[in-house]
Amino acid sequence: MARVLNFNAGPASLPIAALERAQRELLDFEGTGMSIIEHSHRGKAYEAVHNEAIGLLRSLLGIPESYEVLFLQGGASHQFAMIPLNLLPPGQSADYVITGGWSEKAYEEAGRIGTVRVAATTEEEKRYRRIPKPEELALDDKAAYVHLTSNNTLFGTQWQAFPEVKAPLVCDMSSDILGRRIDVSKFTLIYAGAQKNIGPSGVTLVIVKKDAVAAARKDIPVIFRYETFAKNNSLYNTPPTFAIYLVRNVLAHLAEIGIDAIERQNEAKASALYGALDEMSDYYKAPVEKASRSRMNVVFRLPSEELEKKFVADAAKANMVGLAGHRSTGGIRASLYNAVPLTWVEQLVDFMRAFRKG
Ligand SMILES: Cc1ncc(COP(=O)(O)O)c(C=O)c1O
Repeated sequence: MARVLNFNAGPASLPIAALERAQRELLDFEGTGMSIIEHSHRGKAYEAVHNEAIGLLRSLLGIPESYEVLFLQGGASHQFAMIPLNLLPPGQSADYVITGGWSEKAYEEAGRIGTVRVAATTEEEKRYRRIPKPEELALDDKAAYVHLTSNNTLFGTQWQAFPEVKAPLVCDMSSDILGRRIDVSKFTLIYAGAQKNIGPSGVTLVIVKKDAVAAARKDIPVIFRYETFAKNNSLYNTPPTFAIYLVRNVLAHLAEIGIDAIERQNEAKASALYGALDEMSDYYKAPVEKASRSRMNVVFRLPSEELEKKFVADAAKANMVGLAGHRSTGGIRASLYNAVPLTWVEQLVDFMRAFRKG
């Protein structure tokens, strides 16, 4: 089997155990004579998978009973609208901390629905090289909520510790959820598109305080209300059953490792790559401030765009794919999500050393 070393930013590498399980179970799911995709979402077979996925999330992330765990559709981008629709009533405003392209989009979308404020930005000529310091946050304690992006997939920055805020904290964790231990109780709402650490694209995870769901706006269409999905265990309409099945497979695999071991693995991978970048800083430039470095998406530049193109092409010949930076930023980006093993990072570092020598 010729599998490549996949450093894609998302959709991204998935644990081989989760994929092999899907392969084994595809034609005949647990002796039912059909695949899970062909089962009714109202049937026992699918419902068990659905509930197992929710249970695994609860245990892996330590989600308290006072929170709903929802599977929605439309990606994280859909949440950019759904959050203000539910949580931002007229007469109040919401604070956004802008740390990259995704928080910009979240802020702009919310501005189409209600009143929004920029509580801080590290834009500085569109480079977003860092996470703001706590003293730079100009927060409105009466805000309906404060929105953060925990890991900035495009620019390779990550909140190392979350700020203490008075207003309810809402966080886009699309690109680092399940990559480290978090204290869910600090947040009112956490959301993430699945296609990095959770599973395939097509399903969005929302973890939201039951109180917030109860207090959310009711003057919006039923399909946009968190309450609709909370009351129906995310089975109000047909969910993306195959995507959720694969999420179950990924989570079952992660549960065998445990969140603390996953975090340690991610630290080891990131320090191997950043260590190499620092050591070869005459050639490779890591633009992100050290204190803001992401463990999930490592971005760097080479001396010229020509060399960057050659780097990506030569890496592909060496079986390493997904290393081109985002189309809006350029450069190189290696995404080190949970399914990327340390050995891949070591191979990448060896390749970088050889490439630099020419
Ligand atoms: C941090 C972050 N937020 C939001 C998105 C948008 O996600 P989606 O494509 O699921 O709408 C992405 C996509 O990569 C992301 O990395």
